[in-house]
Amino acid sequence: MTHQTFDPVELLGERVRAAISAAAPDAPDDADAMISPSKRAELGDFQCNAAMPLAKRLGMKPRDLATKIVEHIDVTDLCEPVTEADIAGPGFINFRLQQDAIGTLLDRLDSPSLGLPAPESPTTVVVDVCGVNLAKQMHVGHLRSSVIGDTLARTFERLGETVVRQNHVGDWGLPIAMVTRKLQSEAEAGRVSLDDLTLDELDRLYKLAQHECRGQGKGLELVAKYNLGPKIEAELRAMHDEAMEHLAEAKATLVALQAQEPAVHAIWKRIYAVTMGACLKTCQRLHTRITEADSAGESSYAEELTTVVNDLVARGIAEESSGALVVRLDSPEDGGIAEPCLIRKGDGGYLYATTDIAAIKRRVQTIGADRVIYTVDARQSLHFKQVFAAARKAGYATKPGASQPSVLEHAAFGTVLGEDGRPFKTRSGENIRLSDLLDEAIDRARQDGGQQEPRPARR
Ligand code: ARG
Repeated sequence: MTHQTFDPVELLGERVRAAISAAAPDAPDDADAMISPSKRAELGDFQCNAAMPLAKRLGMKPRDLATKIVEHIDVTDLCEPVTEADIAGPGFINFRLQQDAIGTLLDRLDSPSLGLPAPESPTTVVVDVCGVNLAKQMHVGHLRSSVIGDTLARTFERLGETVVRQNHVGDWGLPIAMVTRKLQSEAEAGRVSLDDLTLDELDRLYKLAQHECRGQGKGLELVAKYNLGPKIEAELRAMHDEAMEHLAEAKATLVALQAQEPAVHAIWKRIYAVTMGACLKTCQRLHTRITEADSAGESSYAEELTTVVNDLVARGIAEESSGALVVRLDSPEDGGIAEPCLIRKGDGGYLYATTDIAAIKRRVQTIGADRVIYTVDARQSLHFKQVFAAARKAGYATKPGASQPSVLEHAAFGTVLGEDGRPFKTRSGENIRLSDLLDEAIDRARQDGGQQEPRPARR
C-alpha cells in the first residue's frame, strides 16, 4: 500500500488483486479488481465483478475462479468472513464490512490530511490573498479576498501541496506618498500624534490628501468652454495651482520614499504598522491563517520594477506608445487582448500592472510556483488577463528549466451588493468597515442563536 487510504473500494481492490495473482498466476498483473458498491444491499456492502471477464481470458469457469479468489483472499481485518456462500450468480463476490473496520476507516478521515494521500511530488501553489491597502480600513470586499483565498490555501495544504500565501499589500505609489506627506505635515504641526495614531485617523488623512491633490483641470476646461467669466476662472485657477503644489510635494515624497530617506521612511513605516496591525487582527478574527510573514507588499517590488521594465524593453516585449511604455497583447498567441498593458506612464511612473508583472516573476521564478491563484474582485478581470499575458510573453511565468508556463488564475469573486443592488456602502457613500460588519454579524448571531461564545479557531 502506498498510502493510508480510507476508501473501501481501493482497499478491497488491493486485496482482490493480491488474491487473483495467488489464485491464478497466469492472470495479468494489472487485472482490474472491479469493486463497486453492492447493487443488492442484502448481499453485502461491496461486490467484486472481476471473475467473469478474467475467467474468460484464462479459459476458466467464472464460478471456479471466484471460488479460488475467495480461498486466497485476506480481508479478515476489513470484512465479515468471505466464503463460498458469498459468491452469487455466475461469480460475483460479495463483501460486508465489519462495523469496527468502518469505524477505523472513518477515524483515518479525522486527521490533518483528512486521510487524503500526499501527492508523489507536491507542487507549489501561491495564493494571492487579502490585498489590503495602507491607510485605509479593510472593507467588505476584503472579507472575500481573505476568506476565499485562505480557504483555497487550506484546501491545497490538505491536498499536500506546498502553499505560499501572499498578501499583496497596496503600500506603494503616489497615493501612499500623498498620505505619508500629509501625515508628516500634520505630525510636524502637532495636530496628530504618531504614537497614538489609529487607522481611523489615517483613513481620514488619506481622503484629505486625495482631496488636496485633486486638480481642477476639468473645471477650468468647462469655464473656458462655457465662458463662465474671469472671477470663477481665477478662483478655480488658484485652487488648481494649490492642488498642483500638493501633488508636486507628494511626488517629491515618493522620491524620498524610494530613496528610503529616514524621516519620510519612518512615517511610512508607522502607517504600515498601524494598517497591518489592524488588518492582521481582522484576519485572525476571520480565523484565516494570514500572518505578517505572508505580507509581500507592492513596496517589496519597488527595486525590481526598473530591472523588469528595462528587460522588457531590451527584448522588444514592451514598446513605446505616445511617450508611455506598453506591452501589446492583441496577437492571438498572446490571447488577443485588445487593450495593451501599460507598464510605464509618460512621466516615468510605474503602475499597478508593472508591480503585478514583477510579482509573477518572483512568485514563479523565485518562490517556484507551479500555480498562482489570485482571489481578487471580478472588476479586476481585465487587469489580470493583461498581466498574465504580459508575464507569459516575457517568459516570467515559466520556472527555470520548465517547458511550460506555470498556471496563473484569477479566482474572481463578485462585488458585495447592498439592498439597493449597488456596491455595499454606508448611506453617505462610504465603504463599510469590515471590523464593524464583523461586530454586527457577531451581535446578530448572539441575538438569534443564544449567548454562546463563538467557537475557537481550530488550528
Ligand atoms: N490592493 C489591491 C486592491 O485593493 C488588491 C491586490 C490584489 N492582488 C494583486 N496581486 N493585484 O485592489
